[in-house]
Amino acid sequence: MTILITGGRGKIARAVAAGLVSAGRDVRIASRSPEDLPGAVGWDFGDPSSLAAAIDGITQVFLYAEPSTAGVFATAADAAGVRQVVLLSSMSSQADNEDAAGDPHAETEALVGRGSYATTYLQPGAFMSNAIFWSHSIRAVGQVRLPYLEAEEAPIHEQDIADVAVRVLLDGPGGEHDGRGYPLTGPESMTRRSQLAQVAEITGASFEAVDLSADEARVEMGAAMRRPAQLEALLSYWSSRVGSPHPIEPAVEKLTGHSGRTFRTWLADHPGVFA
Ligand SMILES: NC(=O)c1ccc[n+]([C@@H]2O[C@H](COP(=O)([O-])OP(=O)(O)OC[C@H]3O[C@@H](n4cnc5c(N)ncnc54)[C@H](OP(=O)(O)O)[C@@H]3O)[C@@H](O)[C@H]2O)c1
Repeated sequence: MTILITGGRGKIARAVAAGLVSAGRDVRIASRSPEDLPGAVGWDFGDPSSLAAAIDGITQVFLYAEPSTAGVFATAADAAGVRQVVLLSSMSSQADNEDAAGDPHAETEALVGRGSYATTYLQPGAFMSNAIFWSHSIRAVGQVRLPYLEAEEAPIHEQDIADVAVRVLLDGPGGEHDGRGYPLTGPESMTRRSQLAQVAEITGASFEAVDLSADEARVEMGAAMRRPAQLEALLSYWSSRVGSPHPIEPAVEKLTGHSGRTFRTWLADHPGVFA
């Protein structure tokens, strides 16, 4: 049976598709810009008929959604008889996170969870691929400008998120993954300053790491956030992680059988990013 993968142009979706194909499964790739991906189908939340067409005959979905689109998806998936949805969510949605109230990922999980299919929520913390944004900043101004450089994160490689998604989809609905949220981290806690030091060491990139105050971050990062409250939640979270090593979650190793990839590996896997 064919598995639908939404957010087709994304790094995680591409890795999920490759993993499923190499396991012998058929996939259908959906994208908001299908013209950029040979063989992809359209996926336009403003046009429910595109969702109905993309999801026709599908029983499993790897989903990228947000609060404004999750309900539309759930309706289309129920109508199509979908049996399993693996949602790319975020660690910020976790119930024991005091900032979860009002978090868009928590809201998306709740909306997607209303469907009659089995649902699994992948809840990664910081992505190693955030380093791509740093590379843009290095090229533009020779600096990486971030608040709380001493905050500890356990960033995760997109391939590890994809490997977990593939495991859950290959196992299918009706088992241990139904209704579960899997917090996902990389294998080591690192400050952002130490991640930047590895960038410089491994890639040879030359730049200044600028530790922004919270107010400076509000000005510089606010526009990129879906909601102002999201930035406030992030600032409060990063502040709480200064001097506090990030817990390493066991799910990547438990579900994939391999340890999470290190940030050094991510840098080696993406030689062009800082070239
Ligand atoms: N960056 C982090 O540290 C981090 C940590 C935890 C969770 N997350 C979450 O992980 C998700 C992916 O983040 P990302 O930055 O890697 O992905 P991204 O590159 O922004 O997007 C990945 C793909 O998802 C699809 N997409 C993006 N916005 C969409 C929208 N509004 N509606 C439907 N599809 C959309 C796009 O595919 P098409 O254009 O092909 O449709 C895009 O290529 C986000 O929800 C983010 O909040 C990020």
